[in-house]
Amino acid sequence: MSAFSEALGLDVPIIQAPMAGVQAGKLAAAVSAAGGLGSLPCAVLAVEAMVKELELVRAATRRALNVNFFCHAAPAPDASREAAWRRALAPYYAEFGLDAEKIPAGAGRAPFADDFADALEPFKPEVVSFHFGLPAEKLVRRVKSWGSRVIASATTVEEARWLEAHGADAVIAQGFEAGGHRGIFLGNDLTTQVSTLALVPQVVAAVKVPVIATGGIADAKAVAAALSLGASAVQVGTAFLLCDEMTTTPLHRAALKGESRGHTAITNLFTGRPARGLVNRLMRELGPINAAAPEFPLATAALAPLRAKAEAAGRSDFSSMWAGQNPSGCREVPAAQLLSGLAALL
Ligand SMILES: Cc1cc2nc3c(=O)[nH]c(=O)nc-3n(C[C@H](O)[C@H](O)[C@H](O)COP(=O)(O)O)c2cc1C
Repeated sequence: MSAFSEALGLDVPIIQAPMAGVQAGKLAAAVSAAGGLGSLPCAVLAVEAMVKELELVRAATRRALNVNFFCHAAPAPDASREAAWRRALAPYYAEFGLDAEKIPAGAGRAPFADDFADALEPFKPEVVSFHFGLPAEKLVRRVKSWGSRVIASATTVEEARWLEAHGADAVIAQGFEAGGHRGIFLGNDLTTQVSTLALVPQVVAAVKVPVIATGGIADAKAVAAALSLGASAVQVGTAFLLCDEMTTTPLHRAALKGESRGHTAITNLFTGRPARGLVNRLMRELGPINAAAPEFPLATAALAPLRAKAEAAGRSDFSSMWAGQNPSGCREVPAAQLLSGLAALL
């Protein structure tokens, strides 16, 4: 066992990746109770909803918990880009009989800020993790002041060094295979993004803090391989997507079980930031990367009614179905069972 897992009282050095939109406290509680590190994603939760989920987890188990936030800078709305995006979507609005004028613009995902910190403090989660860098220094200090360890995703060696220099207690090395949003935050050049096998040993060599490997890890052999590369723990997302405690939609579940379940791409269409998801109609027709998509998270609002209409008709053409390149570990079982399978060679 690594010092990282021992300090948190984990039985296995496995973190269940926080996955906004497809899970809440129920999954986190199940994984933590089973001896891994369960994670509660808060990127799409309001403060009150976060508190409700935290109460649920703490009532179920007192073992270590990770609470996860996005920490992007809120973008200034850009009317001409929004208009260009709506022009790109116009044929779809026409197809579904939607009036583009009536679709409100909106933010969608709130970054970590004092309101979340105020509500989080009484729970003192053992770990707080961030995606897209770190929040302002005073917020990092505040989270640490109540005893939480701060961890964050790095997609390059440079980002890992930056996180260590800015106070991260551990760094999550996110390989290009990973499902969901790229954690990339120093620049936006996707050619800098490399695989887990290439990234983890380079990050291990570059920083002194513990390194957590993530991206494409789907079975016990891959867990052992990541640890042998010098990782102190692994973070697994996609493999949990079909577990009983997940709120993964029926359409997303069906796609993960279908023939094209391994066909993913990095796209900015759904939120404005690059994220890996199962390839669908919108990605084929407008992307997967499109310069008209407004800055994160503003791209989401214009798509919402299309998504709703298509989903009501049983189609995932406009849904973001985040998933990594390796769906081979997905099982329709309780999360504790999936966790013990991942830990089988430790
Ligand atoms: C459905 C889904 C949602 C995700 N949402 C988040 C999130 O809210 N916060 C976060 O830090 N990472 C998120 N991620 C990324 C994971 O933290 C992790 O990098 C990724 O799942 C690892 O690769 P894997 O999916 O191949 O296991 C998400 C991943 C998936 C698959």
